[in-house]
Amino acid sequence: MFEIISNDILAENLHKLVVSAPRIARARKAGQFVMVRLAEGEERIPLTIGDADAAAGTISLFIQAIGASTRRIVDTPAGGFIRDVAGPLGKETHIANWGRVVCVGGGVGTAVLFPLVKALAEAGNQITTIIGGRSSRYIILADELTPLSETFLVTTEDGSLGYKGFVTGPLSEILADPERIPQAVFAVGPVPMMRAVAEMTRPQGIETIVSLNPIMIDGTGMCGGCRVQIGTETKFACVDGPEFDAHLVDFDGLGDRLTSYRQNEAEAVRHAAEDCKLAKEAAL
Ligand code: NAD
Ligand code: FES
Repeated sequence: MFEIISNDILAENLHKLVVSAPRIARARKAGQFVMVRLAEGEERIPLTIGDADAAAGTISLFIQAIGASTRRIVDTPAGGFIRDVAGPLGKETHIANWGRVVCVGGGVGTAVLFPLVKALAEAGNQITTIIGGRSSRYIILADELTPLSETFLVTTEDGSLGYKGFVTGPLSEILADPERIPQAVFAVGPVPMMRAVAEMTRPQGIETIVSLNPIMIDGTGMCGGCRVQIGTETKFACVDGPEFDAHLVDFDGLGDRLTSYRQNEAEAVRHAAEDCKLAKEAAL
């Protein structure tokens, strides 16, 4: 059992959980994730290890409550327990000193980007970080990312903070300026955002890495649930990734697989809400 040390709300439906997991905190590297199961019989959820404190024996998990299972995890208060936290899983990020690096985070993807920015900064890169959300209410981890970045930019679709528009706006300005062209770009966020970034850097041949989040079931390369097409090869995001060369990713296939279970998820959320209502009525 893994104790939840703290549970904070960062944005609407987005929580940061600090969980006691000493072995994982010591072993994990940037880019890796854990499979979490709240209780016996619950769904397994892959979650990026957002940060770790080896001395305290804790890891930080950023969880967006989008489905019934993730809702039950974020509803567990500090002092509660998670039954299984398995990991660290996945390959660590290949970190080098590229020189100039641009890191792009869209919405909740910013939480996955955070450990990459931290590792890239520790390796001596000059980092421009661009994070974006629908409005200022969805901008997360700005205070943590600012000191790690030489330049830190925010975009919001409604213009309530920073540049008005998508994260790709400031990126296109950087790519058009010969003095600011990066040697590498990292992008994490919704599929259309990662695809847009890949298409923008392709003409200049800039090394571009994306972190993919296909549906995962076992997280160990056994079930095939997380397969993604990378160039001519089929890869499993859980053991071969989750980071891949953006210029080789089949974003159409990834998008199709991600949307194919949306109806089932919506039904699971509706059933959970009905069960909760019935339980409350029975308690009256
Ligand atoms: P969102 O839809 O609110 O988008 C966040 C930002 O991404 C936007 O404000 C914009 O700046 C950028 N963006 C979105 N679409 C774009 C496009 N077509 N072109 C350029 N930029 C674009 O995101 P959200 O609701 O916070 O995140 C939800 C999505 O993120 C889900 O689809 C989820 O699966 C995905 N996600 C991915 C990862 C990952 O590891 N890749 C991690 C967490 C979440
Ligand atoms: Fe089963 Fe990757 S989650 S193979």
